Amino acid sequence: MDMEKKKLNVACIGMRFGMSHIEGAMQYGAQIAAICDCNEENLRNAGERYGIPEEKRFTDYRDLLDRNDIDVVTVAVPDQQHREISCAMLRAGKHVLCEKPLALRREDVRAIVAAEDASGSKFMVGQICRFTPAFEKAKEIVDSGVIGDIYYVESEYAHDYMYLCDTWRADPDRHGVIGGGCHAVDLLRWLAGDPLEVFAYGTHKLLPQVPYDDATIAVLKFPNDVIGKVFVSTGCKRDYTMRTLIYGTKGTIICDNTSPTMTLFTIGADEMAHEPQILDVTVNNHNAAKEFEVFADAILREKPVPTDAREGARTVEVCLAIIESSTTGRIIRPDYTF
Ligand SMILES: NC(=O)c1ccc[n+]([C@@H]2O[C@H](COP(=O)([O-])OP(=O)(O)OC[C@H]3O[C@@H](n4cnc5c(N)ncnc54)[C@H](O)[C@@H]3O)[C@@H](O)[C@H]2O)c1
Repeated sequence: MDMEKKKLNVACIGMRFGMSHIEGAMQYGAQIAAICDCNEENLRNAGERYGIPEEKRFTDYRDLLDRNDIDVVTVAVPDQQHREISCAMLRAGKHVLCEKPLALRREDVRAIVAAEDASGSKFMVGQICRFTPAFEKAKEIVDSGVIGDIYYVESEYAHDYMYLCDTWRADPDRHGVIGGGCHAVDLLRWLAGDPLEVFAYGTHKLLPQVPYDDATIAVLKFPNDVIGKVFVSTGCKRDYTMRTLIYGTKGTIICDNTSPTMTLFTIGADEMAHEPQILDVTVNNHNAAKEFEVFADAILREKPVPTDAREGARTVEVCLAIIESSTTGRIIRPDYTF
């Protein structure tokens, strides 16, 4: 094993989705120094599943703050607590990998950005789509210039939350556009830059148990004359997907995060697109191993973090602009001053 990898000691907080962080860290070859969950049953389940001894299991994250045998903390607790735990860990000198969305409110994202700036540590928000094989491939094709100049991008986040929204997800601040739609928004920002303007409509027919729309459509104006669309449905009656379209002047990409293939159209000598190429891709829509590897590389090899606090904040800002537009009927210009 690479000696550098052995040096990273990781504490993982939140033992539901956060178990994927244990797996990502273990696959990388890091040591799990501690796991933490305030729910003792969830803590025990994770401990038994991954063979973490009882002395490394904690119910209060504050017990980890002063431990000098912890380099990296992963945070996978309800979104409303990302600020409190991430800021405390940054202040304590830990590197922090925090789940998406960065936070739900502008004041909270700004506090995390400020804590990142004030710390000497690395911070990453887990925008996992940037490590999804089909989306990585799409980005590589776009950057290669094969499909020319992008003029339209579209992504949807379709995921049935019928059995997911009876807890902290039913908080009015946890609108579907920010909770799940942040994946589609972040993906389009990665491909086309920061939207200059957004306009959105919403509807609410499927999830009466939440106090916000369960479907939203937004049109976006990006820099360089690129236009785009985001569709979010958190009550949809279909299997989970993030169908994504990228139109360029010399070709088109159609992909998602749940299919084993993606489609690429390119033009021939006559400048027409003919038969599409069907490209094989690995299906891995929660590529926690790659996500952890990228973060560990940033820490150990002084590489930039691709989704630092400001990147996470910009994605949240676009989501909030979409929600604001859908409730006010106005065009909103996101404010990226953090
Ligand atoms: N990247 C993705 O695609 C993806 C998927 C699912 C969830 N998430 C994100 O992961 C985070 C967790 O989501 P989840 O589905 O696991 O939620 P969950 O409610 O199922 O589980 C949260 C866990 O955190 C624990 N917890 C809550 N407060 C805590 C605290 N103060 N200290 C320690 N433990 C605490 C709870 O007991 C629970 O075990 C959220 O931010 C969510 O948005 C991301």
